[in-house]
Amino acid sequence: KTIYLADYTPPAFLIDTVDVDINFQPDYAEVTAHLAVRRNPAVAAASLVLDGEELELLSVSIDGVVTDRYTLGENTLVLSHVPDVFRLSTVVRIRPDLNTRLSGLYRSANGYFTQCEAEGFRRISWFTDRPDVMSRYSVTLHADQALLPCLLSNGNPVASGVEAAGRHWASWQDPHPKPCYLFAVVAAKLDVLRDSYRTTSGREVQLGIYVEPGRLDQCDHAMAALKKSMHWDEQTYGLECDLDHYMIVAVGDFNMGAMENKGLNIFNTKYVLARADIATDLDFENIDRVVAHEYFHNWTGNRVTCRDWFQLSLKEGLTVFRDQEFGADVHNRQVARIHEVRGLRAGQFPEDAGPMAHPVRPASYIEINNFYTATIYNKGAEVVRMIQTLIGRAAFRRGMDLYFERHDGQAVTCDEFVAAMADASGHDLTQFMRWYQQSGTPHVKASGVYDPAAQRYVLTLAQSAGVCGNLLIPVTVALIGPDGLPLPFEGSIDSQCVLSLSESSQQFTFENIAVPPIPSLLRDFSAPVVLEFDYSDEALAHLLAHDTDPFNRWEAGQRLAGRLILQATEAISAGLEPVWPERLVAIVSGMLACSDETAAFAAEILSLPGEATLAEQLEVVDPDALHAARNSLRRYLACQLEAEFRACYERLAPLGAYAPDSTSAGRRALRTVCLGYLCEIDTVSYRAAALQQFEHADNMTDQFAALAVLAQGSSDESRLALAEFYRRWHDEPLVVDKWLQVQAASRCAETLARVEALTRHPAFELRNPNKVYALLRAFGGNHVRFHAADGSGYRFLAAQICALDAINPQVASRLARCFDRWRKFDAARQAHARAALNMIHDHAGLSRDVLEIVARALG
Ligand code: ARG
Ligand code: ZN
Repeated sequence: KTIYLADYTPPAFLIDTVDVDINFQPDYAEVTAHLAVRRNPAVAAASLVLDGEELELLSVSIDGVVTDRYTLGENTLVLSHVPDVFRLSTVVRIRPDLNTRLSGLYRSANGYFTQCEAEGFRRISWFTDRPDVMSRYSVTLHADQALLPCLLSNGNPVASGVEAAGRHWASWQDPHPKPCYLFAVVAAKLDVLRDSYRTTSGREVQLGIYVEPGRLDQCDHAMAALKKSMHWDEQTYGLECDLDHYMIVAVGDFNMGAMENKGLNIFNTKYVLARADIATDLDFENIDRVVAHEYFHNWTGNRVTCRDWFQLSLKEGLTVFRDQEFGADVHNRQVARIHEVRGLRAGQFPEDAGPMAHPVRPASYIEINNFYTATIYNKGAEVVRMIQTLIGRAAFRRGMDLYFERHDGQAVTCDEFVAAMADASGHDLTQFMRWYQQSGTPHVKASGVYDPAAQRYVLTLAQSAGVCGNLLIPVTVALIGPDGLPLPFEGSIDSQCVLSLSESSQQFTFENIAVPPIPSLLRDFSAPVVLEFDYSDEALAHLLAHDTDPFNRWEAGQRLAGRLILQATEAISAGLEPVWPERLVAIVSGMLACSDETAAFAAEILSLPGEATLAEQLEVVDPDALHAARNSLRRYLACQLEAEFRACYERLAPLGAYAPDSTSAGRRALRTVCLGYLCEIDTVSYRAAALQQFEHADNMTDQFAALAVLAQGSSDESRLALAEFYRRWHDEPLVVDKWLQVQAASRCAETLARVEALTRHPAFELRNPNKVYALLRAFGGNHVRFHAADGSGYRFLAAQICALDAINPQVASRLARCFDRWRKFDAARQAHARAALNMIHDHAGLSRDVLEIVARALG
């Protein structure tokens, strides 16, 4: 059944308070809920319709009197003749131990955990499970004291005690009204790292990070990240923590990254646990970002929440934007922006061009869990960033202040957010709202004409109108002179300005331009569009060398490399040898001579665009040719610059014990890039160097980098390193995930056979989302192997999706997204993919999650 935004109506009943009592028994839990219900005065009289899923109903009472005057539907409980104000009590039995979907209340190794967003609360208790019903919660938990010593819920602990038969109880009260998707409980055996944080206004917040017993030495980084985030939000947005207790609980079985439940965040262990020997630089950075993200939700999501799930990007796009800015401030702003755009192009652009394309505010959905997408999160963040670019940072801050002033405590829509920005800045953002309504990646065509006599440069920008009409697109521009310096012009600040492209085509005139410039367009990626400009190779080399916008320096390199790889792909498809221009050699050689401070940036420039990103630029993709072309360029550069890569590799050897700061991380990143290139020259001595690094590294970043390079081949060294890695780390689940992932992502011809074997390895577990993502989704993202010409990759993944769907539809559905771009390939591959999709589609008992994805894919 399709749900439409246009059908939204306010709730017929409001629920002011919820008292929940959960009694954990060995093979079930009994949930008693008392709801203070009243009719919504703003809505015409209607029946009370409660949502429920897999609940065994034991009793219903109204104002303390048991009643049977209700209708039990498949997933609804309808009460028709109820008073205007009453107390509704329900008792249900649920089976968390059998809940493999990991939505609602479920069992993981050390106890019980919840995930209620988007619609998990209905799997715990009967409720109007929608975000615009906000209530004050009190929760009491009862459980065995020895097995489940930690009993946690949102808010503040109010009382606890012991019961007969070795049991205990605890009560929690959350003073903040919240939608039920922010409800959380944990009953488990956990260790806790405690700390505290004092806000600027003097509130003392007790912080706790709860983890599997024995892992307290892996929590320090997450705790530091939490305190940094709290400080950053005060400094940047004047937003303080409103809680007395802020808890983070890590769980090894979790569908997504983390969840911002009020005062009781629940995290995938992947985004909490870290120690230098088991986590990479990227892991440390991701932990910073995710801890910040969930913390920032406390304002953008919890204090102001979404009216309905179509508004998901209201909280997710905004909160991703906030965590991106936090990451940029505490790590490396330039590299952070490059990573964001790489991610957008590898994930969101293909999504927006495929069967799951949807606007930042979708108009309809079948299963809301399918819409926790790159579009909602990452394009949503770009939309927020564009507002900041258009109105300026100061006005954006005023807009945030106004948004909270107007809507604190409310459940609102994206319109309210944009209206606050418009009102605070005085900008008209009516046209800008189309970004929320229109799917697809816009193309902007640019062209420039220089008139030497008039000393004038005229830039024409054009957009292809979408179904909603023209968009308002901020295009940040500078003009780079032949000497490499940006030319000042009227209206520029620091030699750049933001042009607003609002019509289908517009001309922008720059006067007093004494020399023919090269335009630096869409600086810092000022809009999520594809920019077309007919740059010559020379112009790109010039920008790469001189542009004062670091993002556009990188972009020039990506454009140049991408263009050459695509030309070579065509050549290879036609049976020819690719030829590579010498120009690149000097550029790469220059990058290798960088300082420590610019090493991270150099590593980005030297990392070629990925195959999935490049494939989007092709009409029909030949994945083998594309793969061969990209690797041919890598090998060419490695051969031409062997001595330079080696010298750089040696120069960047570790300076001492591991430290996770961004400069040392940058050195490691560039050193890894060098090792990767050197190993393209397939010699014993470079494999030995990789093995040497693998064996002697004092940290996971260097160890894993060496493993990943080796795992691209099937040498003895590769086998040795993979075996040794598992022997060393088989007791660390997150490291085992890396071991699975690196094998699934290998370009080796035998990768599919290995992945198939790994599905039967004791390290793999179809029930654990992290294992599925590490092995199966990594394989689905392995462009050349998943899209094998004989369809073997498709058949394998289709069978896995069907098996997984019976266990966990949400994760199965994410896996099914690997098929999104199947129509980009040749007819033979399409036939194989169609057969695989049909097989999933016809699988008995298929979930609506996977059905929605597959039906859209089949069109
Ligand atoms: N709100 C969470 C976050 O982005 C995501 C949780 C979504 N979970 C789900 N099952 N759809 O931080
Ligand atoms: Zn979020």
